[in-house]
Amino acid sequence: MDKEKAGRVSAKGRIEGLKCHFRVHPRYPRQTFSVFKNLVLASNNAGKLREFSAMLAPFFIEVVPQSAFDIPETDEPHFTFVENALAKARHAARLSGLPALADDSGLCVEALGGAPGVYSARYAGEPKSDARNNQKLLDALASIDGRHAHYYCALVLLRHADDPEPIIVEGEWHGEILREPRGSGGFGYDPLFLVPHLGCSAAELSNEVKNNLSHRAIAVQKLLERLRTAV
Ligand code: IMP
Repeated sequence: MDKEKAGRVSAKGRIEGLKCHFRVHPRYPRQTFSVFKNLVLASNNAGKLREFSAMLAPFFIEVVPQSAFDIPETDEPHFTFVENALAKARHAARLSGLPALADDSGLCVEALGGAPGVYSARYAGEPKSDARNNQKLLDALASIDGRHAHYYCALVLLRHADDPEPIIVEGEWHGEILREPRGSGGFGYDPLFLVPHLGCSAAELSNEVKNNLSHRAIAVQKLLERLRTAV
């Protein structure tokens, strides 16, 4: 599609060339998700907080970061995203007394056997650094032509810390790893993540477009569908 038009919101409230999930919500009246009006987000990642807040606000769900309750980050010892997301949600729900939403996400590069995967945030070691992670990824792929990759997001919602029926959804976003960073939006690996059908990196997309296409957007959409039928 025309790159200039990507992300532009038309008079009808639709995003040009893209299916818009989050502006169209007459199916979800204010009370639909009232049980989850306040959610603690089991993360201190500013990028995730910004994206979840924007995606859930139209549904009258306010996301409060766990830092507002002085809740420290918990360990993420597991080998799968979903196990780590469950651990994070349980920790935040236990310490806040609120329903908790946790996202465990990362970038999986086929040619690297799925790395950095669950280690995405700390790919280049401590302290966490997006710049060093991106450089390590470029170095790892320097002599590799196959650059297909996808972002993956496991999203877990717990009604309370001992909830035996967590709502678990996932989303994937497929693209290619660029040879040099492009753009200044988003966070993490976004400057290196090419969105092939738009011809730009995720960091060159407006927030609104990323929030309609991303792994997190897909997972949130599935979560809302589950909540609509569950509450
Ligand atoms: P987590 O906080 O342990 O789930 O780690 C998430 C990490 O995955 C982030 O620190 C980023 O490195 C990467 N990541 C996840 N989602 C995104 C995204 O939307 N854009 C860029 N990087 C992401």
